[in-house]
Amino acid sequence: MNMNENSEEIYIGKAKGPINIALIKYWGKDNEQLITPLNNSISLTLDTNVFFTETKVTIKPINLNINSPIDKNNQSQNIITLKINGKDYPVNSRIKNIFTKFFQLKIPICQKLSQKNLNIQIESKNTFPIASGCASSASSMAALVVSIFSALKIDQNKLSKTDLTKIARIGSGSACRSIFGGICEWIKDGGDDSHAIQLYDENYWDLGIKLIIVAQEEKEISSSLGMKITKETSELFKYRINHVVNENLIKLKKSLEKKDFNSLAEIIIKDSNNFHACCRDSYPTINYLNAESEYIIKAVMLLNKIYGKNICAYSFDAGSNAFIFYERVNQKLIDEYFNFVLGFSEKIDKLIVYFENKEIEKIKEEINNFVLKKPSKEKISKIINFKLGEGTKIIE
Ligand code: DP6
Repeated sequence: MNMNENSEEIYIGKAKGPINIALIKYWGKDNEQLITPLNNSISLTLDTNVFFTETKVTIKPINLNINSPIDKNNQSQNIITLKINGKDYPVNSRIKNIFTKFFQLKIPICQKLSQKNLNIQIESKNTFPIASGCASSASSMAALVVSIFSALKIDQNKLSKTDLTKIARIGSGSACRSIFGGICEWIKDGGDDSHAIQLYDENYWDLGIKLIIVAQEEKEISSSLGMKITKETSELFKYRINHVVNENLIKLKKSLEKKDFNSLAEIIIKDSNNFHACCRDSYPTINYLNAESEYIIKAVMLLNKIYGKNICAYSFDAGSNAFIFYERVNQKLIDEYFNFVLGFSEKIDKLIVYFENKEIEKIKEEINNFVLKKPSKEKISKIINFKLGEGTKIIE
């Protein structure tokens, strides 16, 4: 807490939140208000070298005269403002719910502030390209929750990281997985206890993630709306929830434990396929993938075939951008391959060197035939490489 010039209390906190990408997808809410999921999900938290949200929260009690502080329902009247990259945005109910949750905690500072009218400023900076469809809500909600936690100087013994995942969840379901670094699981649990845990930290396995940003053609259906339509209308989705997703969770955990990339890749691909099949099965149908996404899917499958086992995997969220997963020992091969098949490099010989002892001429021919159908350059706007990263961090 600081004091401003009028000796009033002022609470300031700052945090930086990463994005995460799910290997086993969250799709479908058990409870819309609580934002609890129908299934557990597992994700990777990505480093914040390129993509992140940095948020500063300033909380000031409003100095009102004695007649006005609390309304007749004894509810405090908080004024919340939100700026993102310098521009004003309306404050949605999810953000308000996050503050309400904090002020309901049985922690002295939270109880004290719950009795006051507050002026709350949220200033956020994020580095996501406009309309990239990248998990920006996860990183921004996680950054908001941790910046409030920091502003109020709450002790970790009173409010653990796991508790913070529960609060981030009500901002956006997938945000709970951005609190921790490395590899995380969001546990569905019953009701408000639904929280995320860290399965492994960011040093457990040197995995790489390549995000291929594909030009967006039309406005997509938001995740929140899409998952509602799927839950209400898709028969295939019922099968996913009752049979597919739990099997995938078990298999994925086994391959993580054994660091078996070949099987990990297969499950990542299958869960993404199954999730998008459920979207297509929705009524009206939902299609997040476009021709470029389909080309990237085929490119991944071709490389795995040529290589003789799975060396990479793809996964798509509620958008056409592709996330490619691989072990970073294979970074150069993966870079050369995608640069070539996406038209960023013309030199197949730079790629072929990685296929020693294989039938080079046949491989060359196969790849050259494949790239005949490559998308035009302007359809792929950016390629970004990530590795696993830390969770949301307080900035001092
Ligand atoms: C496809 O977390 O954005 O990315 O809870 O309504 O805010 P809300 O949805 P959101 O959904 C993410 C869906 C997904 C899969 C995933 O991240 O697990």
